[in-house]
Order: sequence, then C-alpha cells, then structure tokens
Amino acid sequence: MTQAVVGFSKKNKEEKINWLLETYLDNDPKALKTLQKYWNEDAGLQKLHDDFIENTLSNYYLPFGIAPNFLINDTLYAIPMVIEESSVVAAASNAAKFWLSRGGFKAEVISTEKNGQVHFNFYGEVEILQDFFDSVQPKLLASIEDIQKNMQNRGGGLKDIELLIASETLDGYYQLHCTFETLDAMGANFINSCLETIAKTFETEAQHYRPFLIAETFPEVVMSILSNYVPECRVRAEVSCKIANLNDKDIDGKTFARKFVRAIEIAKAETRRAVTHNKGIMNGIDAVVLATGNDFRAVEAGVHAYAAKNGFYNSLTHAKIEDDTFTFWIELPLALGTVGGLTSLHPLTKLAFEILQKPNAQQLMKIVAVAGLAQNFAAIRSLVTVGIQKGHMKMHLMNILNQLEATQQEKEYAVSHFKDNTVSHSAVVNFVESLRA
Ligand code: MEV
Repeated sequence: MTQAVVGFSKKNKEEKINWLLETYLDNDPKALKTLQKYWNEDAGLQKLHDDFIENTLSNYYLPFGIAPNFLINDTLYAIPMVIEESSVVAAASNAAKFWLSRGGFKAEVISTEKNGQVHFNFYGEVEILQDFFDSVQPKLLASIEDIQKNMQNRGGGLKDIELLIASETLDGYYQLHCTFETLDAMGANFINSCLETIAKTFETEAQHYRPFLIAETFPEVVMSILSNYVPECRVRAEVSCKIANLNDKDIDGKTFARKFVRAIEIAKAETRRAVTHNKGIMNGIDAVVLATGNDFRAVEAGVHAYAAKNGFYNSLTHAKIEDDTFTFWIELPLALGTVGGLTSLHPLTKLAFEILQKPNAQQLMKIVAVAGLAQNFAAIRSLVTVGIQKGHMKMHLMNILNQLEATQQEKEYAVSHFKDNTVSHSAVVNFVESLRA
C-alpha cells in the first residue's frame, strides 16, 4: 500500500517530482519529460508560476485567443479568451461580426455592491442582541479603520452593517450582513479582512456587555466570509435590430426571431435545457474571466445561484419580439477586478488588459456580459438553424487529426475534404486510413 507522505510541501521541486514518479508513475521517464517540457526556459517567469500555488510541478497550457470585432457601446474591442473548447472563440467572433453590422452591443452596469457575512450563534433574547448591536456599531467601524483607509480614500469601503435574524431558518442563527464597495478590485481579501476584524471586535465587546453577562448568554462567531452571491453587483448587455435585418441564407428573419425567442422560452421553462443553455453562456464568460486573471469559480457559483433566484433554475438570457424589432439581453451578477490578485502578476493577464484598452472593473463587467450574450446568440442561432454539430465538428476536426497523429499533408487533405463533407470521428478516421492505405 502507498504510504502517506510527510512534509511534502517542504521538499524542493526535484524531490517532489521524484517522489511522484516513484510512488505513482513507475519512474516512467516519459512522465518526467512531459512535466519538464512545459517548464518555461525563462527562470524568472517559471518562478512566478511556481509561486502561484503550492507544490507546482509544471505549467498547464490553455489556448489564449482573441475574438475581434466586438462593438460595445460604440467602442470596438478584440476580446481575449482562454478556453480549451474548439468552437467557442469562433462562435464569439461570428456573433461579434453578425452584430457589428446591426448596431453592436449595448451594456450598462446596474449596481456594484458586494457583500459578506459574520455568521454567529445566539440563544438569548433578540432584543438584548439588537441593543448590543446598535451600541457596538461605532466600535466595529473603528476596528477596521486601518484596513479600509486606502479603499475609503478612493471612494470605496464598508457601506453598511445589518443585523440579520436568521433563526427562523436555523435555530439560534444570526448574521452581521456587511455590504462593500471595492471599486476596481474584486475585493475578496479586503472584504474577508474587514469581516474577520469585525467578528473579533463583536465577540470581544460582547464579553463585556452587562446584559449578556447577567443572562450568561453570549453571541458566538462561527465564521466570517464574503459571499460570492452578488445580485447587487449586476450588469446588463443587449442587442437589438429590426427583424428584417435577421434574414440569413439559412433562414428568414421572421422565422429565425420566432424560433430564437421560443428557444429562450424553453430554457426558462425547463431546467435540463436551462443548464446547457447557461453552460453555453459561461463558455464566453469564463473564457474572458480566465484571460483577465479573475476568479471563474466565484463567477460560476454566483451566476448559477442567480439563475435559480426565483427558486427555479432557468435561463440567464431573455428575448422578445416587439412590433418589428427583435431584442435579446442578459442580466447577471459579476464581481470582477482589474487590479489586485492575479491581474497584475500574470504577464498574459496584463496583456489581456492592454488588449482591452485597460478597462476599469465596470467596463470589464460589460465586456464579460457581452461575451456571454454573444456566445449564447451564436449557440441558439446554430441550434435553431443548421444545428450545433456542423460548426462544432468543423472546429473539432483538427483535434481528431491530432489524436490520429496526422501529418501536415494529411491535415491539408482532410481540411479540404471536410469543407463539403460532414465531420464525425469515424468519418475522419476512415478518411485518414484511406489516405494511408
Ligand atoms: C457547448 O459547449 C454549448 C452549447 O451546448 C450551448 C447550448 O446548447 O446552448 C452549444
């Protein structure tokens, strides 16, 4: 049986790799080569990546691409995207091109408030707790003075603290619900530092509060953490045009608009479809969030909770036909940063911001929302017309050819052949085999 390793994080990289090779990889020299192949020859850059996490052994590449021609509020962007799925950037680019000649995308930030909670237990009189909370508030604020000085100077900081009685949901459960403005920072560290300090002050001050002492009941902090559910930090993006302008070689505008709106209605009515529908939106959103060094898990968790805000998971996008006009829009919560975190550390993230002309957090929210909307437009457009596989498999062709270790010449023959033939895994295998025979 494999023995647990002690003090692994203290080993150097070579020792860690040797341990891994011996323990799980039969000392396979190919495994070592694979890890080494992805090391960066620039030692400084490699060290930067080594330091991002614990126990770094190598680097894991994902493609960094751009989708050009995104007209957003009359400014033209090339949007950087990091994603492994073959058809996503192509779909985004197609949607950008489609809307470029139809007025482009309009986007607006609705609100920018973030939040976090001190979760605590209390089993005494609610009135006593409320009185204590009212009296201790100035001390809670004073305790975070140093932490929020810089943020306040820039116009942000803690906005409000509210005592929430949640004991109807869970016996003895209360919250200090805190709201924040973190400007161009995603703000996780700032919010968590504030919350932990507030929690400590709250608990310490409670120990000296006479009514608690008399009742021998004190609030007990369980934990303090920001929430990744940020419905008060919301953005909206939209496209709109005359239905006649939707006419296309595959379908007339009226039928297209009707089927498109129906596809959205289905995603609003049916969870199984809604999940796939929103997954397609997240193809665009995650790719830009990743390219700009933001936390895609936080965004994912918050966005999906928002999709279920009415107690029923459904579509993040909406569409309507009014008179002769088609409108398609998205509204979603996005807590993003353009300063702090990885944003100024990873060279490709820095480059992504330069490509985007150095946006602030609100501009980035708009760009990301547009990427999600565009991705959804491209998916629904394919789904209600020619189907998804045509474009998807065309883009996937190169992956299949690479799996088959096709030569450059075989690839060229295959690309030419599959211009007019349906791509499927077996069709590509047969084609390559026939070439080789
Ligand atoms: C594939 O990654 C995304 C789609 O399934 C989205 C959709 O069905 O709307 C094409």
